[in-house]
Amino acid sequence: MTLDDIQQIAVIGAGLMGHGIAQEFAFAGYQVHLHDVSQAQVDAGMERIRDNLQVFVENDLAGPDQIDETLGRIHGSDQLETVGREADFVIEAVIENLPLKQEVFRQLDQICPPRTILASNTTAQMPSQIGAFTQRQDKI
Ligand SMILES: NC(=O)c1ccc[n+]([C@@H]2O[C@H](COP(=O)([O-])OP(=O)(O)OC[C@H]3O[C@@H](n4cnc5c(N)ncnc54)[C@H](O)[C@@H]3O)[C@@H](O)[C@H]2O)c1
Repeated sequence: MTLDDIQQIAVIGAGLMGHGIAQEFAFAGYQVHLHDVSQAQVDAGMERIRDNLQVFVENDLAGPDQIDETLGRIHGSDQLETVGREADFVIEAVIENLPLKQEVFRQLDQICPPRTILASNTTAQMPSQIGAFTQRQDKI
């Protein structure tokens, strides 16, 4: 896979880091699938993104049209399967808990196509440990 093959991004966790990661990819033109444990958490992440983009506009860092264009590229879901099944590149940004991250990666390994790269925004965990229960050690 080359960089050009990456079109669909999935972000797992719509909290402080996840909403910002989703925003950056969508602002850059990627299709982004944003997941959290509930629709309320997904919606909260989308609201934060809308607020951030509004600040961009107020500071002439983006045009007004870019708010809706960027939000239009972000597809939220509380279903991991929905966000993972088409993803070329996944970034996990759930809370800093190794067993939880391992379980998320185990599920993503079953949901995502074989080509999909699984990445983590972890602060301090070893990527090899996070991906220990997947069958794609070369794509972690
Ligand atoms: N906050 C920072 O400054 C910072 C900086 C670098 C790295 N990180 C790392 O980024 C990751 C996320 O941190 P954060 O600050 O965004 O945390 P956060 O608590 O703001 O967000 C975490 C989100 O993960 C969601 N979540 C929990 N379990 C989930 C699951 N099973 N599936 C999907 N979503 C789930 C929560 O509902 C929450 O919205 C952590 O690993 C953290 O160590 C954080």
